[in-house]
Amino acid sequence: MSSVARFVKDQRPRHLDQLKELLAIPSISTDPDRANDVKRAADWVSNRLKAAGCTKVKTHPTKRHPIVYGEWPGAPGAPTILVYGHYDVQPVDPVELWNSPPFEPTVKDGRIYARGASDDKGQFIVHVNALEAHLKIHGTCPVNVKFLIEGEEEIGSPNLDSFLAKNKKMLACDAVVVSDTAMFAKGVPSICYGLRGLAYLQVDVMGTKRDLHSGTFGGAVVNPANALIEMIAKLKDARGKVKIPGFYDDVKRLTPRERKAFAGLPHRDMKFKRAIGAPALFGESGYTTLERLWTRPTLDVNGIWSGFTGEGAKTVIPAVAHAKISMRLVPNQRPKAITARAARYLRAIAPPSVKVTVRNLHGGEAWLAPTDHPALQAAGRAVKRAFGKTPVLVREGGSIPIVATFSKVLGVPCVLMGIGLNDDNLHAPNEKIDLDNFYRGNEAAAFLMEELGASH
Ligand code: BES
Ligand code: MN
Ligand code: MN
Repeated sequence: MSSVARFVKDQRPRHLDQLKELLAIPSISTDPDRANDVKRAADWVSNRLKAAGCTKVKTHPTKRHPIVYGEWPGAPGAPTILVYGHYDVQPVDPVELWNSPPFEPTVKDGRIYARGASDDKGQFIVHVNALEAHLKIHGTCPVNVKFLIEGEEEIGSPNLDSFLAKNKKMLACDAVVVSDTAMFAKGVPSICYGLRGLAYLQVDVMGTKRDLHSGTFGGAVVNPANALIEMIAKLKDARGKVKIPGFYDDVKRLTPRERKAFAGLPHRDMKFKRAIGAPALFGESGYTTLERLWTRPTLDVNGIWSGFTGEGAKTVIPAVAHAKISMRLVPNQRPKAITARAARYLRAIAPPSVKVTVRNLHGGEAWLAPTDHPALQAAGRAVKRAFGKTPVLVREGGSIPIVATFSKVLGVPCVLMGIGLNDDNLHAPNEKIDLDNFYRGNEAAAFLMEELGASH
């Protein structure tokens, strides 16, 4: 075993303690009351980067939450990697469904439970640990390393695009490395070469100027809640196709080669169904589950509210109704064009007696990378050394919009080496990360630096 691998193994208790420290900070980016905690998490990351050996560390303020940048540029002539991650987390509600408090990291059954354990604190940190290991053991690292750890990923990275555009030179690199996705399954390590994009809307339907007694007025006016439901019912057909005109126009078709590759992955619909507790699976006809998740766009209501939802009955015609709707996009759909099409369609199908507004909350492009790039191959070897198995190639249904931007703005390959699992409960109660994955992830990250350094 290499001395770096030995060191990383020996450091497991410390790595766990440090992860616990970070997980204890409630850095919920969307919650204005937590802004100070988000700042504390940024400071923690900054200090950790310094302790790990970064020679230049700087916290860049934005309009909302800071971006932490750090670098170790001590290997002139060797390749440079840029590690991207996010230290912000999702809200914790419904908090009563957590088995242990979300910000009191709790180890149980070989996992650590806390908000952010897998998304993304327990993932990006492995690259910090890896740099530290190389520097501690050899006094140097096989690659130059830059870190860009943001605090606004979960709110759509509103300030990151401009930061990238302004700091192209500082961020120049040969490859971007991201650990913010899942492995295909426990014991089935994977490298991800595709992500879906996103267009996220809020629809508001306004009827009368105030709530009305549903007896005095019911039957004589349009109910915005009914109107909204009718509109939503027209967004998708019974075969799972989205009915927005032009929605599929730019969709890049699945290749027969990918189809075959996906069919060879160890996926079972029955098992998948059981794992998520679904009575039955449903999706666009003509596609398998993995194809639906990874290569096809879709539309979902994320939330819908209107009128009286409290205990008991209140007879009322609500004045307004709202829905939050997400569309997962694939190459080469453009989020802006899709949003415009969706808004136009929603307005067209609205009953004339209501007023509809459609707002774009956030979005981002899908990403698809060639699988034969040397950086991706290097990641494959690193994962194999750490996990003992050659990783399978996967795409993912989730979105990390900045990845497409990295490819475009920096013009470099992006390596997605996720060490999460699909049952990590991201964005849900009882988020966790598998400790074996976390520990091996540290090794994989250290090996990745070796493999990329050796390849130049
Ligand atoms: N890490 C996730 C994305 C992810 C999860 C990708 C699992 C693949 C597998 C990220 O933090 C996230 O939650 N992204 C959001 C989009 C963002 C714009 C809020 C998403 O996918 O909903
Ligand atoms: Mn994430
Ligand atoms: Mn997330």
